[in-house]
Amino acid sequence: MHIGFLNPQGNFDSSNSHLTGHPDFGGQLIYVREVALAMAQKGHKVDILTRQIIDPEWPEFADPFDAYPGVDNVRIIRLPAGPKEFLPKELLWSHLVTDWVPNILKFYREEGGLPDAMTAHYADGGLSAVLIEDETGIPFTFTGHSLGAQKLDKLEPTPENLAEIDEQFHFKYRIVAERLSMNRSAVNITSTQQERFEQYSHPVYHGAVDVNNDNCFTVIPPGADSSLFSSETRSEDEEATYQLIEERLARDIAEERRDLPAILAASRLAPKKNILGLVQAYAMSQTLQERANLVILTGGLDDPLREEADNELAEQGVLVPIREVVQENNLWGKISAFGLSDQGQEGLAATYRFMRQRRSVFALTALYEPFGLAPLEAAATGLPVVATQNGGPSESLREGDEEYGVLVDPQDPADIAQGLERLICDGQEWDYFAEAGRERVLTSYTWESTAENYLTLIEEIVSSPTERRPASLLPIHPYFRNPQANNDISLEELSCLYFGSNQEVLATPSV
Ligand code: F6P
Repeated sequence: MHIGFLNPQGNFDSSNSHLTGHPDFGGQLIYVREVALAMAQKGHKVDILTRQIIDPEWPEFADPFDAYPGVDNVRIIRLPAGPKEFLPKELLWSHLVTDWVPNILKFYREEGGLPDAMTAHYADGGLSAVLIEDETGIPFTFTGHSLGAQKLDKLEPTPENLAEIDEQFHFKYRIVAERLSMNRSAVNITSTQQERFEQYSHPVYHGAVDVNNDNCFTVIPPGADSSLFSSETRSEDEEATYQLIEERLARDIAEERRDLPAILAASRLAPKKNILGLVQAYAMSQTLQERANLVILTGGLDDPLREEADNELAEQGVLVPIREVVQENNLWGKISAFGLSDQGQEGLAATYRFMRQRRSVFALTALYEPFGLAPLEAAATGLPVVATQNGGPSESLREGDEEYGVLVDPQDPADIAQGLERLICDGQEWDYFAEAGRERVLTSYTWESTAENYLTLIEEIVSSPTERRPASLLPIHPYFRNPQANNDISLEELSCLYFGSNQEVLATPSV
């Protein structure tokens, strides 16, 4: 088959530049790349369609075509959308309609053939797929990755502050686009059952999709790249990574403690990742402090416990409160925070291997984690995992009574501390969870099986494109037909979807 991946935000290139360097260059890019490569491995022709960015800050994303080394049936195709320079995903909406989608259609028409199916990623990919399907009949799957409703919930909107929130995030476009995408897709793909039942059932999506209709959903978990995340592999810069870690530990950790195991966190510096809860757990447990150091990987920041970060949200929402706990509990000499600079996923995998040698533990204590690929990557590399019980880890790291990682309540630092102590203080538990976690990932969470599941589904929707779709399709909003005409999506439309005619939605608990 010939399959297109619609992913306008972020970008892709042969050397995976800038991954995690911007919120739009996150896990979704790895997901798309890995599924595309695994499909190609099975002989299919795959196009990753993304936005062309001609910007001195991101020089790698300028050429119209790119490819991954040694792979000839995956094309990275970059097409213009609006101004040449980089734009955050929140500002792409009108350009997708006026430029990106028409450019995709033109490209394929000139080439002489359209793909058999599209997979659409995030609301912006979804909207593009809706418009392409409307014009050509090409069916698409929709993978939301992260839905606007839950992000909006967390910002605690009221009828009074909605305009201000929307000014920054443009939820009115995102939510209308999501409604269209989940309604008009041939099928919606979620990573977990929870994602389907808890996220898609949000009242803003009422009337667009029925979460209880099995036809509309398929759960396909993502995978961990076991060629990278394995205790046996070695990266090209393995020794350089080890040296960097040694240097940072020497900078931050008291000399006599440098060989202790680490409690390792590696996530974006976003408040929802709740690194603060982990630091509080460490601060309240003398046992943990005696037996382990706390090591926090912080993207590109080299010394964030001492130096201010440029990013306001990371600085005020994450680092300032962490520094306070470190200071109040005098954790200096026991805690280290640093970035791996440009070492990317290889550097991360090497760090896990370094930490594994010291019988360390990986911790992800996010308030809510939609899927949680990072703990699976750490587990594949042989680190036992402590993870949030809220979201995907409760399905990936637990099945019935079988435990593959230790689940904790992220809002309760005492529970986090207890979970960590279970692994740090008991060698047998450490051995058990290191092996059980690794086995779990290798048998159930590989990109190959993700791609196989997508392909089975795509074969089905190519032969009967509308079989699984709801009978009543939502109309495409006039703004998404022609954003230049005087027909903008109004704040009232968003307000109506979110708050409804009564204020019941305000009482919906947010995760
Ligand atoms: O890359 C992971 C990801 O979830 C993407 O889907 C998206 O770019 C971003 O992070 C989350 O976006 P948002 O905060 O707007 O939901």
